[in-house]
Amino acid sequence: MRLKDCHNFHDFRLLARKRLPGPIFNYIDGGSDDETTYRRNTAAFDTCDLIPNVLTGVKDVDLSVTVMGQKLALPIYCSPTALQRLFHHDGERAVANAAEKYGTLFGVSSLGTVSMEEIAKQTTTPQVYQFYFHKDRELNRAMMQRAKEAGVQVMMLTVDSITGGNRERDLRTGFSIPFRLTFSGMLQFIMKPMWGINYVTHEKFRLPQLEKHIDMGSGATSIGDYFTNMLDPSMDWDDVEEMVKFWDGEFCLKGIMSREDARKAVEIGCTGVIVSNHGGRQLDGSRSSFDQLAEIVDEVGDEIDVIFDSGVQRGTHVLKALSLGAKAVGIGRMYLYPLAAAGQPGVERALGLMKAELERDMKLMGKTSIDQLTRENLRFRS
Ligand code: FNR
Ligand code: LAC
Repeated sequence: MRLKDCHNFHDFRLLARKRLPGPIFNYIDGGSDDETTYRRNTAAFDTCDLIPNVLTGVKDVDLSVTVMGQKLALPIYCSPTALQRLFHHDGERAVANAAEKYGTLFGVSSLGTVSMEEIAKQTTTPQVYQFYFHKDRELNRAMMQRAKEAGVQVMMLTVDSITGGNRERDLRTGFSIPFRLTFSGMLQFIMKPMWGINYVTHEKFRLPQLEKHIDMGSGATSIGDYFTNMLDPSMDWDDVEEMVKFWDGEFCLKGIMSREDARKAVEIGCTGVIVSNHGGRQLDGSRSSFDQLAEIVDEVGDEIDVIFDSGVQRGTHVLKALSLGAKAVGIGRMYLYPLAAAGQPGVERALGLMKAELERDMKLMGKTSIDQLTRENLRFRS
């Protein structure tokens, strides 16, 4: 199987599985506990159906949207994710370049493996920085200052990871940063020697957003332990309000699932919320983010930007979320498998396929611009 044989999410996933050592593939592929929410995220799109209009003249389709003050050529963006240089040696560089080529956003994670400064220099598309609230308040301020200086336009604070989700696949494989593996995990690395060769012949693995503040050198930590030990479980609305004031610009909360919280986000001055359950990686058993989208749009959609992620695998999933009122849609695994499968050409192919799919689906829906999508285009099955 090669890149040109990949036509959809599942194809990219299979190719990624072939290329990656098991522990790394499972880190991307997994969710928390029984992975119920993870499965539900995608299944939820099938609870409603699209209703097309015809004969509307659809020669030219404009897929652009404006979200968090940024104009994007596509209604999708690459949601920030951690540790990308483990998935492919070019990591964030590959994703940022591919996103730029398609005129869309790519968010750098605080657990990213390329610095926000480098990505800002490398690309002309808007810069988003995804931030975790650490126990070390100095670190939090320093990080925001640094992001300002790097020219970041949008601050995205992830609020659904106050403690680590229970990723049982990672417990079994021993996946951690830097690596500490169980014996069977180790065997899986030996079975994928190309990954190992690339890993050791490229620059050393780093966490440039955090390395000045946190000593990651000694001992290995699991992602769950990192959240639990480093992040501040006492973070509350007052803390975030202070951050929003300090930032004084576009600020969104990632991981809002309830209407009350969306309302509070407006009250403390946020300019956006991302309805997300972290791709089913945190609270298992929580509702799918698609199922929660409509009520959050109804609550705050006229005041701030409601953005959506979790479970997207198809252009029609994107159109359904936009029809409910999302301003833009984030993808995670949808670009991570292509990154792992083939680096930048992989992500470009995935975004290219998604763009073609969106254009085709818009035409079949009889729509020429994203703002023409409304709830009239959707019917929920009872
Ligand atoms: C993530 N996600 C994530 N979110 C975040 O705010 N900071 C991060 O560092 C990461 N890291 C991360 C790593 C991996 C491997 C995955 C799969 C996800 C969550 C991500 O931004 C997004 O919310 C979900 O991936 C969306 O779900 P789908 O599209 O993967 O189903
Ligand atoms: C994850 C993190 C790092 O989901 O957000 O693994």
